[in-house]
Amino acid sequence: MAELLTSQDKRTKYCGEFTSADVGQKVCVMGWVQRQRDLGTLIFIDLRDRTGIVQLAFDREANSEEVFSRAFSLRSESVLCAHGTVRARGEGAVNKNIPTGEVEIFVEELKVLSLAQTPPFEIVENSQVRPELRLKHRYLDLRRPDLQRNIIARSKIAKIARDFYAENGFIEIETPNLINPTPEGARDYIVPSRVHPGSFYALPQSPQLYKQLLMLSGFDRYMQLARCFRDEDLRADRQPEFTQIDLEMSFVTADDVMELNERFIKRVFKDFLDMDIALPITRMPYAEAMNRYGSDKPDTRFGFELTDLTETVRSCGFKVFADAVAGGGSVRGINVKGGAAFSRKEIDALIEVAKQYRAKGVAWLKKGAEVSSSYAKFLTEEENAAIAEVMGVEEGDLILIVADKNKVVFDSLGALRIAAAKKLGLIRPGDFKILWVTEFPLLEYDEEEGRFCAMHHPFTSPMDEDLPYMESDPGRVRAKAYDLVINGTEVGGGSIRIHLPDVQAKMFDAIGFTPEEAQAKFGFLLEAFKYGTPPHGGLAFGFDRLVTLLLGLEDIRDVIAFPKVQNASELMTGAPTPADPKALKELCIEVAEEAKE
Ligand code: AMO
Repeated sequence: MAELLTSQDKRTKYCGEFTSADVGQKVCVMGWVQRQRDLGTLIFIDLRDRTGIVQLAFDREANSEEVFSRAFSLRSESVLCAHGTVRARGEGAVNKNIPTGEVEIFVEELKVLSLAQTPPFEIVENSQVRPELRLKHRYLDLRRPDLQRNIIARSKIAKIARDFYAENGFIEIETPNLINPTPEGARDYIVPSRVHPGSFYALPQSPQLYKQLLMLSGFDRYMQLARCFRDEDLRADRQPEFTQIDLEMSFVTADDVMELNERFIKRVFKDFLDMDIALPITRMPYAEAMNRYGSDKPDTRFGFELTDLTETVRSCGFKVFADAVAGGGSVRGINVKGGAAFSRKEIDALIEVAKQYRAKGVAWLKKGAEVSSSYAKFLTEEENAAIAEVMGVEEGDLILIVADKNKVVFDSLGALRIAAAKKLGLIRPGDFKILWVTEFPLLEYDEEEGRFCAMHHPFTSPMDEDLPYMESDPGRVRAKAYDLVINGTEVGGGSIRIHLPDVQAKMFDAIGFTPEEAQAKFGFLLEAFKYGTPPHGGLAFGFDRLVTLLLGLEDIRDVIAFPKVQNASELMTGAPTPADPKALKELCIEVAEEAKE
């Protein structure tokens, strides 16, 4: 039978906080039974709460029959309130593995506040239980000390952010969640309106337009921990709903935004990890990032930079290389130092990685005691020597070469660098390499749509010196946009916005919007811009990603209390589920037969 709390049951402190300084004190503790050990005349219970564990001790001789028998029958995860006296543990009984290991509480009064059934899995640190089962019972999973630490760390980091931005004059403002679509490039989650049958809200992919409007309203500096919703494929660093540290500033240049926000990064590394980040953070133009690392979010913790072999192999006899060059693509390679130790099987596994990025194959050369290669036989001795020289081949190296369209070459070599570095164990925990990637292209050509699209969003300002090319050569126009990249993860991104109507008109024109289409979609914004718009710009950090990185974790789900799985469902509640037919009727929505199946 469970008992109730009374006003006498006041917790003295948390379980994990007891030390030898408390010896002799009368105390009251509450928590969950981690485990119970029955030694015949003695019983020990490890009592757990969010701070740790304290040992409760019971003794058949000294305890009343009632208290002892209660302690005797207790199952793990039951919830207790215990009153007792702190005492030092005997010489051999000290547990050096836990902070409270020098003491225990001899229990004089015990209340069982709630009896637990045997849980579907044991609550232990670094659980090896399959994730699906843990996510189905996430409330139990969240009792694990490691997950508790992550969620508490998340809260601390949120506070550091709020404090930092408040100290720097930012005002926290909430923006709505039921809105019209914002142009961030993912699919929207849409919400039907009952009052306006056939009309829909979108959930925000970001507060982008609202924060710009707040600048028009004169708030000057805005910030928010904003919930964002994007219907896109899930990955280890992506969730359909996630949080941004979102901000916007008036009367600033890109330098101002980057300078302020790198001070935030410095602050969060100092306050949270006690790590000093040197400022300014390195800046690397997009073109350089692509050429050197094959990625706009380069992981610079290790080398294996790309080498351009296009000119070296332009007129070589190997068709794969020569054809890629003739077709307007390129031939590039990386030199994996130490990679000659890889077996054929391991090289094949790397080739599979490249294939995921649409590479048709990878040409390789391994220089161990002997040389073996997939391509050397197709080239003359001189051609082979030229490649070896440009690639700087030495004994112990593995050369990986991709010949294809530029995008395929960059994407696949970018991925190969990382796969090879992981395989060679070059990625050390606690190593952080941070950089800004700047000068992004304003527009990228969408083959499917046959037109240019905004790479960031259509309100991003072109660089002043590139404005003349907006009409004549839109592909070469760079943007006043910047991403913050940590260890190969895009942790944040932003831009200076267009605040002049004629530039905005050019932008809409470049992405193929007629003035009428622009008016229909963003008329309210264009109208707003007519009434005095300060130059403005901002940025959003992916808060979940930042926390994941700071904690040295790999999976974003480990820092989110109730995350979704790969297919965007939530295993605990089963969301999403079919709607009540009555609700659908009210919304004038009919579900297509194929969806019902
Ligand atoms: P962007 O789309 O680059 O910019 O998003 C900003 C940051 O949010 C994080 N992020 C995500 N995190 C988890 N799951 C996702 N699905 C996800 N998508 C994005 C990334 C990213 O860098 N409004 C602009 C910002 C601006 O221009 O001020 C925006 O949303 O870390």
